[in-house]
Amino acid sequence: MAEDYCFFGKDMLVIKPPKKSPIVLRATLVIFAMMCGCMICSICLKQISTHVKPPYVNLQKIKQPSDFSGIFPWEKPLAHYPKPKTYSRKECSCNPVRFFAILSMQRSGSGWFETLLNSHINISSNGEIFSVQERRSNVSAILSTLDEVYNLDWLSSASKNECSAAVGFKWMLNQGVVEFHEEIVEYFNRRGVSVIFLFRKNPLRRLVSVLANSYDRQARLLNGTHKSHVHSIDEVPLLLLFCSNSKQTCPSAYNNDLIDAVLVQATVLATYKPVINCASLINDLEVIENATADALEYFRSTRHIILYYEDLMNNRTKLMDVQDFLRVPQRNLESRQVKIHTRPLFEHVENWDEVSKVLNGTKYENLLHSRV
Ligand SMILES: *[C@@H]1O[C@H](CO)[C@@H](O)[C@H](O)[C@H]1NC(C)=O
Ligand SMILES: *[C@@H]1O[C@H](CO)[C@@H](O)[C@H](O)[C@H]1NC(C)=O
Ligand SMILES: *[C@@H]1O[C@H](CO)[C@@H](O)[C@H](O)[C@H]1NC(C)=O
Ligand SMILES: *[C@@H]1O[C@H](CO)[C@@H](O)[C@H](O)[C@H]1NC(C)=O
Ligand SMILES: *[C@@H]1O[C@H](CO)[C@@H](O)[C@H](O)[C@H]1NC(C)=O
Ligand SMILES: *[C@@H]1O[C@H](CO)[C@@H](O)[C@H](O)[C@H]1NC(C)=O
Repeated sequence: MAEDYCFFGKDMLVIKPPKKSPIVLRATLVIFAMMCGCMICSICLKQISTHVKPPYVNLQKIKQPSDFSGIFPWEKPLAHYPKPKTYSRKECSCNPVRFFAILSMQRSGSGWFETLLNSHINISSNGEIFSVQERRSNVSAILSTLDEVYNLDWLSSASKNECSAAVGFKWMLNQGVVEFHEEIVEYFNRRGVSVIFLFRKNPLRRLVSVLANSYDRQARLLNGTHKSHVHSIDEVPLLLLFCSNSKQTCPSAYNNDLIDAVLVQATVLATYKPVINCASLINDLEVIENATADALEYFRSTRHIILYYEDLMNNRTKLMDVQDFLRVPQRNLESRQVKIHTRPLFEHVENWDEVSKVLNGTKYENLLHSRV
């Protein structure tokens, strides 16, 4: 941004009539250099103290920032300069921080999605912080937790350093976010929190995944341990997507051996075929569908982006969209093309015939034939 302002100054010089003597020109140059310095200083000060009125409104209108540490006028409400209590942001205290929240449902790929975000040096997503009941027992508990997160004072394994440019967490719809939506929407809009919705297009697949996971919780197919990090066979493609590409985007804990192990585990988990309760199936699908629709409706007024797990797997440009949305510098989160095979749903369900019969002729019929 500083450069922009300085270039602007030079442009002005060129426009000036060349009547003046070199000494005058030089003096003008010096004055402009000084002005540049002052501007940089005052812009920085202004950004630190959001209460000071912007002194160079006109300049900002003429010259928009082209880099990501600068901010466009429209996104001023979204750019924050938190002062954490627990540490100093040091040289990055002038860099704006964006706030976000991932709104999702269990078993919708949000685990790997968050891992991916956290592989970006400037993104810090703090996990499922509202899985702890007492943090969401009432509105004031929720709001003070949010304050702590967005003031960069939340401690988690994903807390980054002073140079985080986007900070947030993952929030499941059944963890108070729908229940207290009015106050939360008000908070999000007041504090400029952007929402990333992450859903699955096929709720039937999600249902299968939920069943398989809760089965494994009890059965412990993997030598007696429930592997919560192996989310399910259908989250493996996302892991592969990150890890078969570049080392950069693969969470550092995942080396090749570990990836192989994860694949083996996922294959074992996939040998279990859940039996779907057909008596409640239509109702269960409707519950998922309604919860999704309700959340979208409640949070309509927030700044948001809607992502689908299926699209993330099939279209890598979606990941760029997310980075743009968060206004962080784009990093290449892909390099090699990986062909991802998703097994057809009927291979995962024990009572598939019954399921087809129940869904045949209903609005959910297309879920039977969907490949993803
Ligand atoms: C809200 O919940 C917290 C944590 O459970 C509790 O300490 C606090 O007293 C509650 N506040 C109100 C107003 O109910
Ligand atoms: C991202 O992090 C790097 C290294 O910590 C830092 O130099 C850079 O300024 C950060 N970028 C933004 C946009 O904050
Ligand atoms: C379970 O343990 C046995 C022996 O330690 C090992 O050979 C096998 O690969 C393990 N299975 C899984 C799914 O981790
Ligand atoms: C889902 O929403 C529709 C329309 O609002 C309603 O008629 C239906 O009863 C809801 N289904 C469930 C299971 O809540
Ligand atoms: C992939 O996503 C981008 C941006 O979201 C979109 O413009 C493009 O049409 C998508 N491509 C396919 C093949 O769906
Ligand atoms: C679905 O219903 C139609 C008639 O309503 C029937 O012809 C078809 O075989 C059924 N499909 C399945 C998969 O049951």
